[in-house]
Amino acid sequence: MKPAHKTVPATLAWREGELYLLDQTRLPLEIVIERQDSAEQVWHSIQQLKVRGAPAIGVAAAYGLCVAMKPHRNQALTEFRAQLKHQAHYLESSRPTAVNLAWALRRMLAVAAHENAADSAMLYARLVAEAQKIHTEDTAICTGIAQHGVALIKSGMGVLTHCNAGALATSGLGTATAPMYLAHQRGTAFRVYADETRPLLQGARLTAWELDSAGIDVTLITDNMAASVMARGLVDLVIVGTDRVTANGDVVNKIGTLGVAVLAKHFGIPFYVACPSSTIDLATPTGAQVEIEERAPEEVTGFGGIRTASIGMRVGNPAFDVTPHELVTGLITEHGVLRAPLSAALQKMMQADSP
Ligand code: MRU
Repeated sequence: MKPAHKTVPATLAWREGELYLLDQTRLPLEIVIERQDSAEQVWHSIQQLKVRGAPAIGVAAAYGLCVAMKPHRNQALTEFRAQLKHQAHYLESSRPTAVNLAWALRRMLAVAAHENAADSAMLYARLVAEAQKIHTEDTAICTGIAQHGVALIKSGMGVLTHCNAGALATSGLGTATAPMYLAHQRGTAFRVYADETRPLLQGARLTAWELDSAGIDVTLITDNMAASVMARGLVDLVIVGTDRVTANGDVVNKIGTLGVAVLAKHFGIPFYVACPSSTIDLATPTGAQVEIEERAPEEVTGFGGIRTASIGMRVGNPAFDVTPHELVTGLITEHGVLRAPLSAALQKMMQADSP
């Protein structure tokens, strides 16, 4: 049995009442950890992808709300509560697509609404405790996904993934990578192909780096190589993460995921999505209703400060796409693997999951 090790630094930490984030825009060349001192700083850290990945931005937003409310601890309760709503609304506006962000903030507001605190300091302490709960739950969810997904990875397999749904995107083993870490720990020999993931290279900078750091056999490929790698028979399984799964089982994930799903269908390769319950949005019927974040053109016209497109070029830069549920072989959740019909399976799981 190989040792389980995660050598990359933690994505975020709450220490002595302060939030610390690993700046993922500098990875893998530099390890920079930044203390977050204001709601505005947390907002920018999320928007600029210093912290990124659906589960991680949910946890960061929950702690971010604590950072925002810390200066208000001595105010009257009515003022504190009004400010809390305002700050949650503000933090939610940092990124629109991953449902975890809104989910975590809603959960924080619900806790505050039900808390009969004597003063603002007590309510603040309750909010910190809830953010810590969201954080530890996320770690456990990753472990659950690992346990339910590990059986899919057999010795000798090639597994392709897209973007980074790894440890860096969560508080634990990642989502798409969680079964990979566990399979590796159990001594299963398999290969991973990590799509580079244009335009911001989360696959190259983050996934390939974290899997390689853990001793997993990983090959970095550019996005346009996926078809050829599949055509050569090197891929037996695809596992990706998700930012939102709608009620009908449509999967919203990093731009390029849809292309991978279409390819997998063509080549008869199972296409699985690692999906924590915090990413399931039963209130939205299909992927067509999800707001897809459109990011700055500069992310496409150059990289690392070097311009690659002509000045004034018109650019499209949607950060996510929607994979229709028909292309999804299964959803790997912390409670088990869900299969078609996904809408019924999601309903059943979320009913059983609700307190
Ligand atoms: O823009 P990003 O880097 O936040 O996009 C991340 C993804 O699309 C991930 O696949 C998704 O959030 C799942 S992370 C466990």
